[in-house]
Amino acid sequence: MTLKRSATLPLVLALAAGPALAAPVRDPHSFARPDEVAIRHLALDLAVDFEAHRLAGTATLTLERHDPTATELVLDTRDLEIEAVHLDEATEATPFRLGDPVPTFGRSLTIPLGPQTRQVRITYRTRPEAAAIQWLEPSQTAGGKRPFLFTQSQAILARTWVPCQDSPGVRFTYEAKVKVPADLLAVMSAENPQRRTADGVYRFRMEQAIPSYLLALAVGDLEFRSLGERSGVYAEPSVAAKAGWELADTEKMITAAEALYGPYRWGRYDILVLPPSFPFGGMENPRLTFATPTILAGDRSLVALVAHELAHSWSGNLVTNATWNDFWLNEGFTTYFENRIMEAVYGAEYAEMLAGLSRRELDEELARLGTGHRDSWLFGDFEGRDPDEGVGAIAYDKGFLFLKTLESAVGRTRFDAFLRDYFEANAFRTMTTARFVEILDEKLLAAEASVAAKVPVERWIFGPGIPEGAYSVQPAAFARVDAELDRLADGIEPAALATEGWVTHQWLHFLAALPADLADDTRAALDAAFGFSRSGNSEIFSAWVLHSIPAGYQPVMPELERFLTTVGRRKFLKPIYEALMKTPDGAAWAKRVYAIARPGYHAVSQTTLDAIVGAPKG
Ligand code: BES
Ligand code: ZN
Repeated sequence: MTLKRSATLPLVLALAAGPALAAPVRDPHSFARPDEVAIRHLALDLAVDFEAHRLAGTATLTLERHDPTATELVLDTRDLEIEAVHLDEATEATPFRLGDPVPTFGRSLTIPLGPQTRQVRITYRTRPEAAAIQWLEPSQTAGGKRPFLFTQSQAILARTWVPCQDSPGVRFTYEAKVKVPADLLAVMSAENPQRRTADGVYRFRMEQAIPSYLLALAVGDLEFRSLGERSGVYAEPSVAAKAGWELADTEKMITAAEALYGPYRWGRYDILVLPPSFPFGGMENPRLTFATPTILAGDRSLVALVAHELAHSWSGNLVTNATWNDFWLNEGFTTYFENRIMEAVYGAEYAEMLAGLSRRELDEELARLGTGHRDSWLFGDFEGRDPDEGVGAIAYDKGFLFLKTLESAVGRTRFDAFLRDYFEANAFRTMTTARFVEILDEKLLAAEASVAAKVPVERWIFGPGIPEGAYSVQPAAFARVDAELDRLADGIEPAALATEGWVTHQWLHFLAALPADLADDTRAALDAAFGFSRSGNSEIFSAWVLHSIPAGYQPVMPELERFLTTVGRRKFLKPIYEALMKTPDGAAWAKRVYAIARPGYHAVSQTTLDAIVGAPKG
């Protein structure tokens, strides 16, 4: 959604980094003024009402007064029903003001403060349509018997369930008391219970300061399984064994990550496997990654996602993008770190394949955007837009390619030392793109004149496309696939191709490189030989579907309907619906299926897909 440049949003100042580097930056996606008064600690006391689809209770904010002349606290809210505000120990409520609602951004909540006010307590409830929260019917869960709820706060949805300074530049510790039906378990991005309590009351603490986008809650019929000394998995009982098997390498990944870039600073690392409507692959909620069940391929072939979310425990959760324009600092670094973890655990050939697929994603995105597009800079320009629009190949895959290029220019030893220092020196702080460029110059490039000449840093970050001299990816495992694609082009029967021992990523390369003008009988023969239309691997299935839709290949449609009405992961849904909408028949089919599927999607996916398929009328 493109919003008008919102003159209604006030200028907002956030501290870019620690006090030593107090270069203030505006966060164009928050009403808050944390340079005046900032949240230090949040205490939540909430009851979960599955009938009314509401959270209700209090949020008590402990404040840090930066500007002694400031007389009010400004918070972000969206669709919250504010009942009362109390200052410190006062028994009498204090007046407050809600600003005019701005689409996507919500409304400011302004609370006048006394000169000594240190705490405000806000009594509120969420609305059933709160965009962060998805309330699932029992039928949308694996067990089918109990309801479920989960939140997704990134990028600017925390404000739909907690009144807060919803800006990545503001960090606070938190605690929570959450009351749920007694037969359900509650978990958060915090220290978590491993079993149910008798009364359904759960208490949480997060003692490291985090930004609001990492606030998270899930409630459901969940079971815990240990994976190792400090890792485990939460899932619905019928999914737990499969999840435990699939994610068995988690502990190895943590060890590998620490060997690369320093100690894991968050205590435990657990993974919550959600019902299939979860709109993302994964979300790096501290201490508890939220994950889609579509990674449970049955052969551990999609666990790079765990490496990715784990890597965020450094890039993102320790060193955090100052605003959503700096998003590539979170995702580009994480994609690089993910690749290094995968290399350490599964070998260089595996990591090269991931790099190869990443490069293809990037080339396709650049082709879509066209030459010179502003949105192909690493440094984003999302002011006045939903920062959610920044989720794509530029931040992830161009960011990855840039860091890979730097790595190969300076050598791995030096680059790793640089990154280790960077995470250590900036832990629990906010990072701007400009500050990163300074650090890079100072700590790495100053002593490397030849590198600075080879890697045009400014053009990578503040320019479109891919500058020359980019790291070149040539996975040997893909060369073997290309050879078979050549044989297919020469008329060899699909069943006769030498595909034995191919892993998921080779198949993904195969499907992505398959010629668009495949003959109908060849397509059918491929499907007969390799069973793509029935693949239980979500990545392979969606790659096949994307190739088959433009050809009008009907045999896959019943499976596709099942997929679209179960899976809510936006990364799969968006390109599939886009492809369907390109022909009149496809569009009619898409609209019919979307009408059935839409109520089961999380608001994040609904918002994206409404713009593609059309919002429901009424
Ligand atoms: N932090 C992101 C998800 C996100 C980004 C949510 C921006 C909302 C706004 C997460 O770490 C992520 O990148 N997930 C990917 C995983 C993949 C790259 C391995 C996803 O969901 O597909
Ligand atoms: Zn990520």
